[in-house]
Amino acid sequence: MHPLQCVLQAQRCLRWGPLASVSWLLLRTCRAHSGVRSSACPSPETRQEDGVWKDFSSRLATGPTFQHFLRSASVPQEKPSTPDVEDPPPYLTVDELLGRQRKVYLETYGCQMNVNDTEIAWSILQKSGYLRTSNLQEADVVLLVTCSIREKAEQTIWNRLHQLKSLKSKRLRSRVPLRIGILGCMAERLKEEILNREKTVDILAGPDAYRDLPRLLAVAESGQQAANVLLSLDETYADVVPVQTSPSATSAFVSIMRGCDNMCSYCIVPFTRGRERSRPVASILEEVRKLSEQGLKEVTLLGQNVNSFRDNSEVQFNNAVSTNLSRGFSTNYKAKQGGLRFAYLLDQVSRIDPEMRIRFTSPHPKDFPDEVLQLIHERDNICKQIHLPAQSGSSRVLEAMRRGYSRESYVELIHHIRESIPGVSLSSDFIAGFCGETEEDHLQTVSLLQEVQYNMGFLFAYSMRQKTRAYHRLKDDIPEEVKLRRLEELITVFREEATKANKTFVGCTQLVLVEGVRLCVS
Ligand code: 5AD
Ligand code: SF4
Repeated sequence: MHPLQCVLQAQRCLRWGPLASVSWLLLRTCRAHSGVRSSACPSPETRQEDGVWKDFSSRLATGPTFQHFLRSASVPQEKPSTPDVEDPPPYLTVDELLGRQRKVYLETYGCQMNVNDTEIAWSILQKSGYLRTSNLQEADVVLLVTCSIREKAEQTIWNRLHQLKSLKSKRLRSRVPLRIGILGCMAERLKEEILNREKTVDILAGPDAYRDLPRLLAVAESGQQAANVLLSLDETYADVVPVQTSPSATSAFVSIMRGCDNMCSYCIVPFTRGRERSRPVASILEEVRKLSEQGLKEVTLLGQNVNSFRDNSEVQFNNAVSTNLSRGFSTNYKAKQGGLRFAYLLDQVSRIDPEMRIRFTSPHPKDFPDEVLQLIHERDNICKQIHLPAQSGSSRVLEAMRRGYSRESYVELIHHIRESIPGVSLSSDFIAGFCGETEEDHLQTVSLLQEVQYNMGFLFAYSMRQKTRAYHRLKDDIPEEVKLRRLEELITVFREEATKANKTFVGCTQLVLVEGVRLCVS
């Protein structure tokens, strides 16, 4: 655990009035592994007379040490039948930490990262002796893995909580109480606001706190609400093997990095998923090798910012030659040095099994050096498909979004990619109605869609998110109906252009991956 995390914990413990039990644990954590003390964490010297503090210090003495946290951060993998619990915190017994065959129902919302996080959360709970159910009615624990990217995504969860509330009150009259948890981005963004607003919620776990799920659930069993929304500087769940939910699956997602440092002005992700960090190359290769042995035919490397991958986990990696940004692109952060970069990882991953297809998502256009493009071109098993989120076709709007490129440099990159990888398929994300977007800016986006002719597109109406730079500095001044009208126009143009682009494939032979059989009844 990084010392900075300790400071964050200490600050949180003062601010979180209603979560007494949680605050207590965090304070102890702060003292236990340090040397580091923040202004928010009172020193024992200044509080010696205080009887409460004395009692508290004596409890501290028996609390977990730094080693405790190191140990629990690298839990070895075990068979699901052997619950893996050691060293419970002093206020819980080993037995209380065990799932004791309670049934967990997991529901996933939002992006592919959340699907992967669901598998990580389940892997951790399975090792603690929980069972999984796909039947909500027989669940003892319901966990929602949530998304905060747009207002609508959060509204869906509030509605779902309403439904679960009635299920929970019915259950009270029958058998063991139903426990409800909010996991992921919404837990991180709203924190105690969720617990205050929805008393039906028992636990909150942010995207970096899934290892703590067994403890949070054990606290919830005693009838208290429990939360851990600490963000980490180094958590990648590298040692947690996600549980593949479908044994007949042909493809799998492998998480290679977490978080984002880009700070695009509209985006909540850096606040909900924290700082960018990459998983060590060795553990990624090991996971891909296992998937290949299991016969999987396709692997998608996953991350918020997949192509800014940088494995700095070993000192010698810092001597690695730095790769450049795409021409005409800049970052909102200070240049980072060294580390094993995405081109190296892609090269290594694609060598594992020439019969296994490799994809990656979601990249940022700034991190496409020639090494990456060359590799995609040369390696037969790397799919010739690139997602290149543009967000807008207007340089003025792109600047307000802090994307680090102009329309011209983006278009230049498109040409360069098409020259480097003939026949490449392109996709993009666009936001309609960002702060201050004029009709002229909107038409620029329309013309970018026409100029590039993407094969796939993901288009959204702008949704203002608290905490972001746009929230603090810009005005959400485009009326909702105008946003929606512009979005409709973008969708129409995108479809027309994609139809043209896809028609160019008619008559040619492509290798396709058959994922399953679906019966269509007409
Ligand atoms: N409003 C609308 N769309 C957004 N996206 C990210 N933040 C917002 C927001 N506040 C879109 C971007 C991003 C995709 C994952 O979601 O297009 O690429
Ligand atoms: Fe959000 Fe920008 Fe990071 Fe993507 S790159 S997750 S849009 S901040």
